[in-house]
Amino acid sequence: MKIPAPKQMRDFYPEDMALRNHIEAAWRNASKRAGFQEWDCPIVETLELYKRKSGDEIVDQLYSVSTRGGNDQFAIRPEMTPSLARMVAARQGALPRPVKWFCIARMCRHEQAQRGRLREFFQWNADVLGVAGPIADAEVISVAIDALVELGLSAADVEVRFNSRTLLGALLTGLGLPEERHPAVFAIADKRGKATDEELAKLYAGLGLDDQTTARIRRLLDLSSLDEVKRFVAHEKVPGCEAALAGLDELVSLLADLGKGDFCRFDMGIVRGLAYYTGPVFEMFDRAGKLRAVCGGGRYDRLLELMGGQPMPACGFGMGDVVLGELLKDRNLLPSFRLGLDYQLIPLDDERLSDVIRLTGRIRAAGRSADFAHKAGGLGKAFKKASENGVGKVVLVGGDEWSRGCLKIKDMTTGVESEVPLDRFTP
Ligand code: HAM
Repeated sequence: MKIPAPKQMRDFYPEDMALRNHIEAAWRNASKRAGFQEWDCPIVETLELYKRKSGDEIVDQLYSVSTRGGNDQFAIRPEMTPSLARMVAARQGALPRPVKWFCIARMCRHEQAQRGRLREFFQWNADVLGVAGPIADAEVISVAIDALVELGLSAADVEVRFNSRTLLGALLTGLGLPEERHPAVFAIADKRGKATDEELAKLYAGLGLDDQTTARIRRLLDLSSLDEVKRFVAHEKVPGCEAALAGLDELVSLLADLGKGDFCRFDMGIVRGLAYYTGPVFEMFDRAGKLRAVCGGGRYDRLLELMGGQPMPACGFGMGDVVLGELLKDRNLLPSFRLGLDYQLIPLDDERLSDVIRLTGRIRAAGRSADFAHKAGGLGKAFKKASENGVGKVVLVGGDEWSRGCLKIKDMTTGVESEVPLDRFTP
């Protein structure tokens, strides 16, 4: 019996690997263009790290790992933010500020099957630590968009929707809900669009809220422009919203300055599921609305303290490869999976194989890429394969040319064939 890969996890055959590398290259390029430095951490962390502040949902999805004695409890990382906070807290005094770090990491969450969600995936994170104002929020949103633009997507394909937990918190306080009840409301609000109306109603009822308060919360979450919110705040005279609103206005203007205005809009319904967010939050979606979020992030100004560090403002995002891959497929933006070798060498008779191997060695030593056929014959097939693989030049070794001390070389781009003396061949 053949043993399959674990459920909802992927094998990466070469064509899958080519897509993953294509996505990762865009992530890495965008990070580097914006001055982010790369970091990484172990694939497992102590269970305690996630229990401290990721929130119940992610803790329920953990793959836990026990060691032989069973004394230490570990979990496969489901996200990178707690590890980032742990690492920055450990060297907080010594790190030059702002800390601008990115990572591309493999992680696991035991999620239910749905399009764009798997149990093992890759996530790109870019975070800025040590900056309290919206410049850092604008910068991380901008770098996320830059990678998508490099992959061929535009503002017609994707949109970033942002909100502020501070603003929503002030509005909930205005409805008479004390601050300690906000996290539970945030967790339910984050399920909007993912759960049915009845399921949401049940969740709100579970909080012990009366129907009128629930209806008012739901009306709040429908506000979809900053002007609407401002009108609501003025009409209802809700106190404590000014700073959050001013921060969002500044964020809008910074995003426009960074050339990303067309990609972004306010949406009160964006709340985020993770427990540690404290200020502006955002998610990126395909405009066609067919897929789950491509990316999600926000400000988490208190996480460093929770990890035993000094207070330090921070914000960032995570972008997954699964939804992004689906989106590129939908838009016909998949890369071509060609090898792109500089040279393909073919012996014209089997005695020339050792010459072919020696020549291949010379080409590789000169820093160019080369592969060779292990057997003579089947020229038609060999040329077809070379063309499919995007080979630059085919080198034929043998025949009359060889007896004259020459190679026959075909440039696959121009179709031009030439005879080159072996001692003058420079790859
Ligand atoms: P998150 O919203 O849990 O945030 O995940 C961010 C992105 O990772 C999602 O938008 C999605 O693209 C991808 N993702 C999450 N779960 C799965 C899954 N099961 N299968 C495939 N893709 C998935 C975080 O993880 C935060 N730590 C992000 C962050 C960084 N916030 C601040 N800095």
